[in-house]
Amino acid sequence: MAVITRRGFLEMVGALAVAAVGLGCSGRNQTAMVTPTPKGEMFSSLPWPYKKLDPDKVADLAYESYMKHHCMYGVFNAVVKSLAEKVGYPYTVFPTELAIYGKGGVVGWATLCGALNGAAMATYLVLPEKEADKVINELYAWYEYSELPNYIPKKPVKADLNPFPKSVANSPLCHVSVSNWCKASGYKAFSAERAERCGRLTADVAKKLTELINSVYDGSFVPKYSLDKRTMTCRGCHCKESALQNTRGKMVCWECHTKEGAKHIEDLEGHPKV
Ligand code: HEC
Ligand code: HEC
Repeated sequence: MAVITRRGFLEMVGALAVAAVGLGCSGRNQTAMVTPTPKGEMFSSLPWPYKKLDPDKVADLAYESYMKHHCMYGVFNAVVKSLAEKVGYPYTVFPTELAIYGKGGVVGWATLCGALNGAAMATYLVLPEKEADKVINELYAWYEYSELPNYIPKKPVKADLNPFPKSVANSPLCHVSVSNWCKASGYKAFSAERAERCGRLTADVAKKLTELINSVYDGSFVPKYSLDKRTMTCRGCHCKESALQNTRGKMVCWECHTKEGAKHIEDLEGHPKV
């Protein structure tokens, strides 16, 4: 006689509940999704299995994917599809289109850079929380402080500039990152050149991310980027465990709070009154 364990029972109840909701919503084609399979049980918790990937290949795929569905999808799809090839199921069935929402810092709001958003989600798919956080901290700091993009595509899709203009983002925010590149390059935020820049940046992020995850995987991870000195000083008075503790964050503080950073329109002679 088959013995139903408590866990097995709960999973069965869960699957039935999901199936019922699915049928309630659209009535058709929902049951296939929730049919419990032995494989499905194996992958119902994170992290999923990882195998070392070739960073340059992931970068190529990220650039290609960017051209299809933008930045967040670019990085996320590249990692998942590369793992689908190396590991197989369940990466083979992951609907990576989930990541399209990150385009333009979440549907054009220019908040978190989509490439960084996709990278963080991919990291959480393959590493446990503690290791993932280390990778994300390192990746984000590298992104803030590095002159990018470096990636050179075999066939440029949007614009073929040589040399390609670079900039330091000084921020993980799409808005700041893009505008600082526009300032450095002279190109507009809605130009083909800017799209090319973000495509190449997406490839750079995918490459760096793969190198970092590979290094955690083989035990050679050593963080190289820390927050810059001035930001650390600000945090010393304003962030966690400080006297004032009236803010939180790791972004470059002075990019917004000093005159070298964000411009204040009241300081600009001749700026239209708004
Ligand atoms: C030695 C401690 C110290 C450091 C370091 C420091 N601050 Fe402050 N900060 C203060 C104090 C104290 C105030 C409140 C002063 C006031 O209201 O006149 C303040 C006020 C501010 C305010 C305005 C907040 C308000 O209540 O009006 C901002 C914004 C700010 N700091 C940002 C920064 C940034 C950015 C840095 C790093 C570039 C930084 N601070 C470094 C102590 C510090
Ligand atoms: C992307 C821009 C940006 C970055 C980066 C940033 N801030 Fe702010 N910060 C703001 C804005 C906008 C406010 C809201 C208050 C305002 O409008 O003056 C604010 C508010 C504050 C306040 C409270 C000000 C007040 O009037 O009470 C403090 C303190 C502060 N930030 C410190 C920091 C520190 C420290 C960092 C770095 C860890 C940092 N900020 C990074 C934009 C930024």
